[in-house]
Amino acid sequence: MIILGIETSCDETGVCIIEANQIKNNTEIKVLGNQLYSQTKIHEQYGGVFPVMAKREHAKNLVPLLEACLKEANIKIDSGFKIQDSDLVSAKKILEREGELFEILNKFLEKVEKPNIDIIAVTNGPGLEPALWVGVTFAKALSIIWDIPVIPTNHMEGHIVVASLQKVSSTKYQVDSTKSSLKQSTIYNLQSTNYPALALLISGGHTQLVLIKENLNYEIIGNTCDDALGEAYDKVARMLGLPYPGGKIISDLAQKEELEFPDKKTVYPLPRPMIKSKDLNFSFSGLKTAVLYTLKKIDKITEEIKQEISLEFERAIVDVLKSKTEQAIFEYNPKTLIIGGGVSANTRIRCELKKVCDKHQMDFLLPDISASTDNALMIALAGYIRNLKCKYQNEKLDFRADGNLSL
Ligand code: KG4
Ligand code: ZN
Repeated sequence: MIILGIETSCDETGVCIIEANQIKNNTEIKVLGNQLYSQTKIHEQYGGVFPVMAKREHAKNLVPLLEACLKEANIKIDSGFKIQDSDLVSAKKILEREGELFEILNKFLEKVEKPNIDIIAVTNGPGLEPALWVGVTFAKALSIIWDIPVIPTNHMEGHIVVASLQKVSSTKYQVDSTKSSLKQSTIYNLQSTNYPALALLISGGHTQLVLIKENLNYEIIGNTCDDALGEAYDKVARMLGLPYPGGKIISDLAQKEELEFPDKKTVYPLPRPMIKSKDLNFSFSGLKTAVLYTLKKIDKITEEIKQEISLEFERAIVDVLKSKTEQAIFEYNPKTLIIGGGVSANTRIRCELKKVCDKHQMDFLLPDISASTDNALMIALAGYIRNLKCKYQNEKLDFRADGNLSL
């Protein structure tokens, strides 16, 4: 089965084509094409994502990314297929609020034949609603024009399922029996999960502990009371005069500090918010404010001080994440821990949570670093898994973009 994934929930425009094959008890996922355009340079000047700008950029970039992805994937064409004029009219109506997107799409359709794609998966939430709508309407238009079912996909489910991909190889394979060219492609196995599983989702918009009782059955057992973890990283980075998004930069500074001064006790101690609370909720706004007050007391914020504060900030975060995760493990006794979301790219968090899993003899599923931050591979995969459960039909086009969509 071939799946096209489309992601536009925030400031990354992603288009991905995967092929999923069930081979005995194993599901093999071949990434045929994976294109991502990051808008971070555009939003950097605002210190965060500017929704109207994000929407415009998605509308501009979706078709070129789809074209590049199809070229990369080099999949077969449905040569007998002819686009119906009435379907083009319907697609135009669906895209009427998306500026020039229909015109760009129409030009593209004049030169590209219908590819053999079985389903389209698109993020319909959570995220920035104007940005989500571009992807949703684009996917619906393609669905009508090419007569392919479309699956609304939860972005957070994407972050969860992508952790189950275990890289097998980057293999050369024959693209098409009629062609002699070989293509390099990444192949994954979809690892089966031992349930119940616990997912720690840490991204720019979410900080959640989710109990997964069985495949696709979620209960949110912990949530942030204020800022999401990635948001706290980005805001603290801004206070330290670092560019957006600052998570990776803080992480690098913290690592440098630890390497240079492994035994140093910080002179800027920070709180571990809610570490002693009986529930499984988080709060990172107090930690961010504590950094602000610390910085206010310092006359000159040198590179050394930035490093030292970055390390203490990360240590505070890791202490809280470990403590809450262990608390959830004691309460729910899961067999697997999954981490997902952009902040799960963080080396310290990955290492420390691995220790927690080892201590409790649990499986640990974590995404490739490259698939931790937003991408369309996770959406294609989530769409594939959803479709196994409930087969999607063309007529299901009445779904909406929902910025607050819950798992
Ligand atoms: O999942 P994601 O790509 O977008 C949302 O769905 O929100 O997460 C983006 C967040 C940003 O706040 C970014 O600063 C953070 O992930 N991030 C990191 C790292 N890489 C990205 N935070 C800490 N350490 C990292 N290595
Ligand atoms: Zn995300």
